[in-house]
Amino acid sequence: PVGAQEWVPPQATSIDDLKSAAAGCEGCELHADATQTVFGRGAPHAKIVFVGEQPGDVEDQHGLPFIGPAGRLLREAVDDAGLDPTELYITNAVKHFRFELRGERRIHQTPGPAHIAACRPWVVAEFALLKPQMVVVLGATAGKALIGPSFRVTQQRGRLMPWPASAQHPEDFPVAEIQALATIHPSAVLRADDRDTAYRGLVDDLKVVAANVR
Ligand code: URA
Ligand code: SF4
Repeated sequence: PVGAQEWVPPQATSIDDLKSAAAGCEGCELHADATQTVFGRGAPHAKIVFVGEQPGDVEDQHGLPFIGPAGRLLREAVDDAGLDPTELYITNAVKHFRFELRGERRIHQTPGPAHIAACRPWVVAEFALLKPQMVVVLGATAGKALIGPSFRVTQQRGRLMPWPASAQHPEDFPVAEIQALATIHPSAVLRADDRDTAYRGLVDDLKVVAANVR
């Protein structure tokens, strides 16, 4: 893939500018089969930015991130952790839905390293405008996009990390040192055998976020 960079407007002054430009992105092949680009949304001066994997089926149809089952669970966890939802922005590492058709059904497929790399300029551009205090890395794909290929959720979750210093290519990110915290993806909570325990783990991690934003 050629990557998203040539679609990112260098003079963007708002998330809306980026969102409009991203609607036409053809930086990798995922745009061809998906319905639309699903850009980030939330407070323009958010203190906390959540980064997920990619839009799901519902998000692909409506054009907004985290509005399906995973989004509902995440909103509940945000509330239970005591975070202020008006100070958040939420986006995805990859902005088109990757799926495989099985009959009529569109089955989620994890984006590959090439998709993650191709789409990264959009996350970089979002951070450049938002300049958040804290980045919440939701699951493995976001971790690979922001930290690097060696990222493992199970090993790195729940504790504050200096970021982008802890990333593989910190110089790519147009932000000064800020904090990051990784946790499990809300979809992983929905799939867990012991959902209550997984949910409590997510909320506990988000409480660390709440305790460390000013
Ligand atoms: N899962 C994600 O990672 N992002 C969404 O927007 C929806 C589900
Ligand atoms: Fe562009 Fe990202 Fe969509 Fe690929 S997934 S076409 S890089 S917006």
